[in-house]
Amino acid sequence: MTLSTEVRRLKLFDLRDRALVCTKCPLAEHRTNVVFGYGDPDADLMIVGEGPGQREDEQGLPFVGRSGQLLDDLLGEIGLTRDDNTYIGNVVKCRPPGNRDPRPDEIDACADYLRDQLRLVDPKVVLTLGNFASKLLLRTDTGITRLRGQAYEWWGRFLVPTFHPAAALRGSARVLEEMRHDFGLVRQVVEGTLRRSAEPADTTSTEPAPPDAYVDEPDQLDLFG
Ligand code: URA
Ligand code: SF4
Repeated sequence: MTLSTEVRRLKLFDLRDRALVCTKCPLAEHRTNVVFGYGDPDADLMIVGEGPGQREDEQGLPFVGRSGQLLDDLLGEIGLTRDDNTYIGNVVKCRPPGNRDPRPDEIDACADYLRDQLRLVDPKVVLTLGNFASKLLLRTDTGITRLRGQAYEWWGRFLVPTFHPAAALRGSARVLEEMRHDFGLVRQVVEGTLRRSAEPADTTSTEPAPPDAYVDEPDQLDLFG
């Protein structure tokens, strides 16, 4: 079902109102602000990060710290901005204290919001940043280093897993180059020029086949259930 921009916007506002008072998991106790998400309700690209850091918690907006600057730069290189044709969300909406990893019960508690954001924005491509978002959405234990580098068909759209920008800030130039490659895949989906992955470039890969988990199967609807 295709929703009008106005309906998407209103439903996202409703969802945000609910998240702003949410106490479904222990992260509620420590937060300054709930970081619900930001962007264009009609976006072709939805970006999914891990969870708010200190700056995001202070401002109530996603990716406003150093990782966010790098994210903006990478988006700019593919002709996008966070205000136009992009929507940014996180796996958990409240900051884990001391930037610890989100726990499984917290991820489960928060997954309804992410699922509804994905359904409402209904993007052409989802870009997952880092292990948490990538493993959750692709339902796999495979790490991001192995997962990244390709676009997966996912729920009638594409999903491109890549490193978290914090990894590029900490890591080598290679991490950044690999992120650029992955952002290039995003650009191709948005522009409608992506070649199917079954083509020669991929059949020569020595990597094991991706886990079945990515296959678009009805029982995966409970991913965010
Ligand atoms: N890192 C994330 O994963 N999300 C943010 O919103 C900011 C930093
Ligand atoms: Fe609610 Fe998600 Fe915040 Fe937990 S992290 S309190 S589930 S909004």
